[in-house]
Amino acid sequence: MSGSTILGMGHYVPPRVVTNNDLAILMDTTDEWITQRTGIKERHWIEGDVGASELAEHATRGALAEAGLEPKDIDLILFATLSPDLNFPGSACLLQARLGIPGVAAMDIRNQCTGFLYGLKTADAYIRSGLARNVLLVGAEVHSTGLDVTTRGRDVAVLFGDGAGVAVVGPQTSDDPGAAHVIDTELHADGRFAEILMVEVPASRLNPRLTLEMMEAGRHFPKMDGRSVFKHAVERLPEVIHSILKRNGYTLADVDILVPHQANLRINEMVARQLGFPAEKIVNNIQKYGNTTAASIPMALHEAVQDGRIQKGHLVLLAGFGAGLTWGASLVRW
Ligand SMILES: CC(C)(COP(=O)(O)OP(=O)(O)OC[C@H]1O[C@@H](n2cnc3c(N)ncnc32)[C@H](O)[C@@H]1OP(=O)(O)O)[C@@H](O)C(=O)NCCC(=O)NCCS
Repeated sequence: MSGSTILGMGHYVPPRVVTNNDLAILMDTTDEWITQRTGIKERHWIEGDVGASELAEHATRGALAEAGLEPKDIDLILFATLSPDLNFPGSACLLQARLGIPGVAAMDIRNQCTGFLYGLKTADAYIRSGLARNVLLVGAEVHSTGLDVTTRGRDVAVLFGDGAGVAVVGPQTSDDPGAAHVIDTELHADGRFAEILMVEVPASRLNPRLTLEMMEAGRHFPKMDGRSVFKHAVERLPEVIHSILKRNGYTLADVDILVPHQANLRINEMVARQLGFPAEKIVNNIQKYGNTTAASIPMALHEAVQDGRIQKGHLVLLAGFGAGLTWGASLVRW
């Protein structure tokens, strides 16, 4: 039973840059507040009608080129997103149509900021068991059209950006034994805290699912208890990092680089302090992109590969936390 490797990656953000000062025109906020609390300076937002599958297609073309593969070589699409193009069918199906590969299995993953890690574990399991050969693993989000960009929604609206990150995951072959080998992924969830970060409507548990009154109350926008999310994140992330290292016989000293989910620079700084992990070994790009949820880990990972911070042989630790609650970590030998 062979393991899996990351054969190539791609990432894409829409061209329009929205700065903190741009947001201050729409709502009562300041560049200083956003920078101090989150580290974010700007984010990319789509213009016009652009869905998550369109951003994903751009990133996919890059990932396939890097892997030296064609769309026809893919036999499973996993699409992690909390902002699918449509309520149903899933964005994986829409991306499959864009890639022109009818018949290929396509499935969405609904695990928010941990979606890429849930997808990586699923891809790894399919490949190890021989059920799939080349898996297209996507994290893509269009947040901007779902945010309340008035002062009422400012606590959430300033955090999120649009983007896509993609990995092509394939079998580890003997002629390329060391290439980005996926060692292990550990996943967790705790649904007791589902309501501290959610979009409540439209909802099948409500009848009717959506009314004008609900919309007037802003219940179709994301709602977050920011302090509670922060507190859970800084507890769960160090916990899962220690756990995955221990069960694979590593210590923090073995880790060359940590690529955490980009929710808030302060969360990542606090996690680093708690771990005693050097800040210069952590990849952070939230300053440029905000929180792109399922896209954030693959975008940061690919940037670090492209700019040379990740080198062949490095032990790379990925860690994510988000709504659900969900959290997890992966170890990859680059
Ligand atoms: C969102 C977050 C930055 C808010 O920071 P905070 O220090 O907890 O701030 P609070 O929510 O307590 O708000 C403090 C004040 O700032 C105000 N405020 C909220 N958003 C604001 C904004 N964008 N601009 C200016 N003021 C804002 C609040 O209304 C509040 O005002 P008050 O004291 O008069 O009531 C922080 O809680 C956070 O990052 N949490 C984690 C969020 C996250 O990572 N989510 C994604 C998980 S994957």
